[in-house]
Amino acid sequence: MCGIVGYVGERQARDVVIEGLRRLEYRGYDSAGIALVQDGALSTDKRAGKLANLEKAIAEHPLPPSTTGIGHTRWATHGAPNDVNAHPHQGPQRRVAVVHNGILENFARLRDELERADHDLLSETDTEVAAHLLEAEVLAGADLTTAMQNVCRRLEGAFTLVAVDAHDPSRVVAARRNSPLVVGIGEGENFIGSDVAAFIEHTREALELGQDQVVTITREGVAVSDFDGNPAEGRRYHVDWDLAAAEKDGYDWFMRKEIFEQPRAIGDGLLGRHDEAGQLQLDEVRISDDELREIDKIIIIGCGTANYAGMVAKYAIEHWTRIPCEVELAHEFRYRDPILTRNTLVVAISQSGETADTLMAIRHAVKQKARVLAICNTNGSTIPRESDAVIYTHAGPEIGVASTKGFSTQLVACYLLGLYLAQVRGNKFGDEIAAVVRELEKMPAHVQRVLDDSASVYELAQRFLGARSVLFLGRHAGFPVALEGALKLKELAYIHAEGFAAGELKHGPIALIEEGLPVFCIVPPRGRDQLHDKMISAIQEIRARGALTIVLAEEDDDEVVPYADVFIPLPTVPTLLQPLVATIPLQLFSCELATLMGHDVDQPRNLAKSVTVE
Ligand code: F6R
Repeated sequence: MCGIVGYVGERQARDVVIEGLRRLEYRGYDSAGIALVQDGALSTDKRAGKLANLEKAIAEHPLPPSTTGIGHTRWATHGAPNDVNAHPHQGPQRRVAVVHNGILENFARLRDELERADHDLLSETDTEVAAHLLEAEVLAGADLTTAMQNVCRRLEGAFTLVAVDAHDPSRVVAARRNSPLVVGIGEGENFIGSDVAAFIEHTREALELGQDQVVTITREGVAVSDFDGNPAEGRRYHVDWDLAAAEKDGYDWFMRKEIFEQPRAIGDGLLGRHDEAGQLQLDEVRISDDELREIDKIIIIGCGTANYAGMVAKYAIEHWTRIPCEVELAHEFRYRDPILTRNTLVVAISQSGETADTLMAIRHAVKQKARVLAICNTNGSTIPRESDAVIYTHAGPEIGVASTKGFSTQLVACYLLGLYLAQVRGNKFGDEIAAVVRELEKMPAHVQRVLDDSASVYELAQRFLGARSVLFLGRHAGFPVALEGALKLKELAYIHAEGFAAGELKHGPIALIEEGLPVFCIVPPRGRDQLHDKMISAIQEIRARGALTIVLAEEDDDEVVPYADVFIPLPTVPTLLQPLVATIPLQLFSCELATLMGHDVDQPRNLAKSVTVE
């Protein structure tokens, strides 16, 4: 949510900042802006709408050369997405420029104070308040670093701030509290970004900052302090992916590329996490076996797609471990006073590792002394840092706003966790665990086959162009798949879509069925608890009422074929693992339909990739 970039070095800061913003645009695309320092003055430009508008403006009115600059791509919180509210914001003397990600909760009070001191604020944003406060400090004689420390001590809420001072081109200063910020370490140049994508083209050496820290970058180096000015240290790490991973690689959309990366991503998620005999090795789970044996309740939290991954995980983890497992939206969990003890394991799932709702929920869990394990894709992000343990999903950067490989790799991590818990607690004999591991190892090939056979999904998207509503039905582990299929369609095609548990149909939703309504039906594999047969009954019921059924089922499932208007074959896999293959056609369908509708698939309206405000 909002992308921020800072640069100081020898290159043209304009180019580095714009390139960084391009790679961060997925974080918000309501407006974009840049500020450069040159000869004691600031040159800025900022435009409502996508980065392309800013680029066009700069091409028409070039900014002077400069080697120090900051930039911003916005997801609007305070104030409409227009030119005035776009960042950077400046102090009244145009001495200091600031970009910001987050929400300053006490901004109204601070704004009042400034207005009483005759400050004229031009925008509706909370950020402009920070710009005025910083500039006042600098005009009173503080250097920008000290000014930032002084101002941050007065701010409440979540923020990453990045600032430049027109009179000091040698430095860019940034600060963070509950909002992402990483430093890129270069040779004779240094970078700041909301995430490493901002500077991956230039360096793969990064520095992760802790909470409530201020960082000053110059050409020569990087200095970190806390808000009181005491020296502090960040954690240095090497980014394990490169520029190629952050590019579209010939695909029209990042989302499509990421859908097609899933066989690789799933394989990477399994790599090195079990031995040849199928014995799990999750060394990164830094909770001792004894502690894991004491766990008597698991609560999985996450938002959106991550929550649906958690719903699938519940079926698997309870089945394999027999530990009661709840799944809850992180924002609901946080505010309902949940019962947690030292023996509760809270599993927080988050692709970005920065989702504010999930972060606040884990802080609540930590306070209650529960153990927290994160399942996360982003090294150096806040959620794993504040958890007791982490399983990284190794999906590589997910840039399309709608999560795809994020989801499938979260599923893999959840399966591994469930099997590991079962192994540690001795619930399952090694053979049974090894058998599931063997099935998991086949998943990259199965997913590849679904992708290779996706022609019918493209035809389907053509056929349903113009549909006003689409339903998704599933049972058991297929129920969260239905919810995920509906979420993808809402996000990308902006049409009404709902997912239901098929068993719930007769309790209400069947009233929605009308002639020609497209309904995706995810049919469980045969041979388990009559689920398959019950799903077929549900399909018959909706078909009898005019629904057009798109049935995803095992490829040789002849029983279901007579009731399918469209049949999408899936490889035969165990029920609990079926979400890994069943989700793929639904992702492709949404991506294709949105493309045909002329929507921006990577940057759907009103959304941002990483939701860093509650
Ligand atoms: C949907 C989607 C969102 C995210 C949710 C959580 O396609 O991407 O629903 O899953 O905002 O994000 P993370 O996983 O980053 O915490």
